Amino acid sequence: MTDPKDAPLVRLAGVGKNYGNVIALRDVDLEASAGEVTCVLGDNGAGKSTLIKIVAGLHRHDLGTYEVQGEPVAFSSPRDALDRGIATVYQDLAVVPLMPVWRNFFLGSEKRKGFGRMDITFMRRTAKREMAAMGIDLRDVDQPIGTLSGGERQCVAIARAVYFGAKALVLDEPTAALGVKQAGTVLRYIVQARERGLAVIFITHNPHHAYPVGDRFLILNRGRPIGYRTKEEITREELTALMAGGAELEELAHELDAAVSGSGSRAAKELAEGADHLRKSD
Ligand SMILES: Nc1ncnc2c1ncn2[C@@H]1O[C@H](COP(=O)(O)OP(=O)(O)OP(=O)(O)O)[C@@H](O)[C@H]1O
Ligand SMILES: [Mg+2]
Repeated sequence: MTDPKDAPLVRLAGVGKNYGNVIALRDVDLEASAGEVTCVLGDNGAGKSTLIKIVAGLHRHDLGTYEVQGEPVAFSSPRDALDRGIATVYQDLAVVPLMPVWRNFFLGSEKRKGFGRMDITFMRRTAKREMAAMGIDLRDVDQPIGTLSGGERQCVAIARAVYFGAKALVLDEPTAALGVKQAGTVLRYIVQARERGLAVIFITHNPHHAYPVGDRFLILNRGRPIGYRTKEEITREELTALMAGGAELEELAHELDAAVSGSGSRAAKELAEGADHLRKSD
């Protein structure tokens, strides 16, 4: 058995999940280690949310094993997962729009002083400091969180998870609804969280968001892995091509071949090499 110190924070092996007759997930291996970003990519219905719900303790897996620091777990609620340091930020963040940023930062874990009164001074100061430590420059922690952009709200949620001691941070499509600039901001905080030693699991269907920040990439297609590679093992073009999906791969490779013989451009050549590699590894 591996020493828990050396074991990845989160490890799934051969994990599967059914919803009634629907096979939502099969044969998934995944590791997330401290100071690394593991990306989970896939199209709609690929099983990404199902996978993170298992990691987050919302659903139980039917097959395979789920280990946290080398120890098999079967969480019965997100609270259990949180107790083991696994925090999840969902796309539809549970915030109270009219409440100030600091209040949302401490929502459900309010700091109290004598007679159950809230320690507002402490919470305001702490929220401000923690956000600053993540490099988040908020004008005012008193402003209602509803007035922040989607990207900024994601960042508050990330800073909050870090403050409350998360070891692993699961982010479900944090950049999906965002413009280029805001997505860039969220990607920066993903890198910040990694630098602070967290294991980050980043779900996205955008290979261009995943590639720059990811250390490992799991690509799902209709509930099954069609690739699990470290950054050294895959180029951005290969990742993009894999995202195009299993059945479409051959067709794509043909198209790329045609494109390269047509134009001879460097980009087209690289794409064709990617397709070639895919054919070999398929
Ligand atoms: N609660 C459920 N009951 C029945 N089937 C479900 C349930 N949740 C998901 N599924 C099915 O499981 C499969 C995987 O769904 P999942 O939501 O995990 O995909 P996803 O990759 O997150 O997709 P998206 O990009 O659209 O969010 C789909 O076929 C979906 O219809
Ligand atoms: Mg989903």
